[in-house]
Amino acid sequence: MTVTTCKSAANAAAKAAPDSLQQRYQALLDGHDPSSAAWLTEQLTRAQSLPDDLPDTPSQLQAWSANHAAQVAQGYAHYLEQRRQGAPRRYFSNRAQALWFLQQVAPTKAVDGAWLHSTLSHWDDPRYHGLITTYLEELGAGDPRCNHVLIYRRLLSRLGCLELAALEDERYLQGTLQLALGQHGEAFLPEVIGYNLGYEQPPVHLLITTYELAELGIDGHYFQLHVTIDNAASGHARKSLAAFQQLCPREGAQAFYQRVRRGYRLNDLGLDTPSLISRFDLQAELFAALERKRVFGQFMHADRCRVQNRTINQWLAEPGAMPGFVAALQAQGWIKRGLDPAQSRWWALIEGPSAPMYGVFTAYEKQLWHDWIAADWQPPIRRVAPGTWEAKLTFDAVPGNPMAADGIPALIARMAGDRHALPEGLLATQAYCRATGLDQEPAH
Ligand SMILES: [Fe+2]
Ligand SMILES: [Fe+2]
Repeated sequence: MTVTTCKSAANAAAKAAPDSLQQRYQALLDGHDPSSAAWLTEQLTRAQSLPDDLPDTPSQLQAWSANHAAQVAQGYAHYLEQRRQGAPRRYFSNRAQALWFLQQVAPTKAVDGAWLHSTLSHWDDPRYHGLITTYLEELGAGDPRCNHVLIYRRLLSRLGCLELAALEDERYLQGTLQLALGQHGEAFLPEVIGYNLGYEQPPVHLLITTYELAELGIDGHYFQLHVTIDNAASGHARKSLAAFQQLCPREGAQAFYQRVRRGYRLNDLGLDTPSLISRFDLQAELFAALERKRVFGQFMHADRCRVQNRTINQWLAEPGAMPGFVAALQAQGWIKRGLDPAQSRWWALIEGPSAPMYGVFTAYEKQLWHDWIAADWQPPIRRVAPGTWEAKLTFDAVPGNPMAADGIPALIARMAGDRHALPEGLLATQAYCRATGLDQEPAH
């Protein structure tokens, strides 16, 4: 083999096998990842060695599911009791941690339901109807108010977190598995059933997450929705069990069940949710965000701005200087840690529509600043019940609302050219933001 053919063979192999999960995730989304079946087999082998809590025989599955649901209910009751007795939040010590978590799981949430895609072609076989119904419900049957992927994207958008910072590659693992199962569902039907069985049993952390997001002023509708729609009595959890019972062949049931178990274990590849949440490091996140921003800001400041005898531009020119810079801001009294951030001059520079540095920091970065400055000071709780933000969405004409009476197209017409700057245009813009859920929540 010549060097050139060697090279082109290597190139072809590189193309066939993406070298990161993120690349494979993207390739699957784009519909061309020829090596994903082999990759899925590898992951199943990896999952084989993990323990699982499934019963030894399929006949016990019903009892297993009921027991799981009872344990979750008990675990949640215990959590609520602890909270009543004054225990702090279990997962999110501040709002920044919640926003961080929502971004970390975004690649998975962006393909919610994908593992069931291949079932759609079996619409004429009633044994598949439970799985198909589950998939259609993930898609909200095409209604943008109910489409799980859109609900999650609206949530990120309202929080100003649509632009994801670079995530660790492993954050793409579950999403990639889901896409691969969806693409190869014909060859991996028992594994799809098993994965579905695991994914659709609501875990206790789902309930706690919903509760704590509400407390942090974040609409946990996406999570609350999964508590209800995945329920074990009649929801996706129940359907996941029925699908197994209907599709498990009489001949070779045990072998089929072993493959179902392998698929089930795929859910446990990668970090579990509570461990992921506990990895958050507020100060490290803040300094990393500042380091990313540093290069863009280093020529933007007037030389009269000085902190501890260095100009801001000098501070920003030096790699790794951000912790020192923040310490200097503190030493000069610009930042008062442990108090309401509103009492820090620095906060007034970055937050609010008339702040001199308006727009320099994203909503997430501002939350990092806010919570780092606040430290042990806790803002008053502003509970947002799940569904509050979503309930305001109209998507279409709302009788009685003069601005939305003609629906979104009329609003869009009023937002064209320079018409949006007229009083009517300003109202139309506000109505458009509300109707589409694309307005942003302030940091607090
Ligand atoms: Fe879902
Ligand atoms: Fe579901």
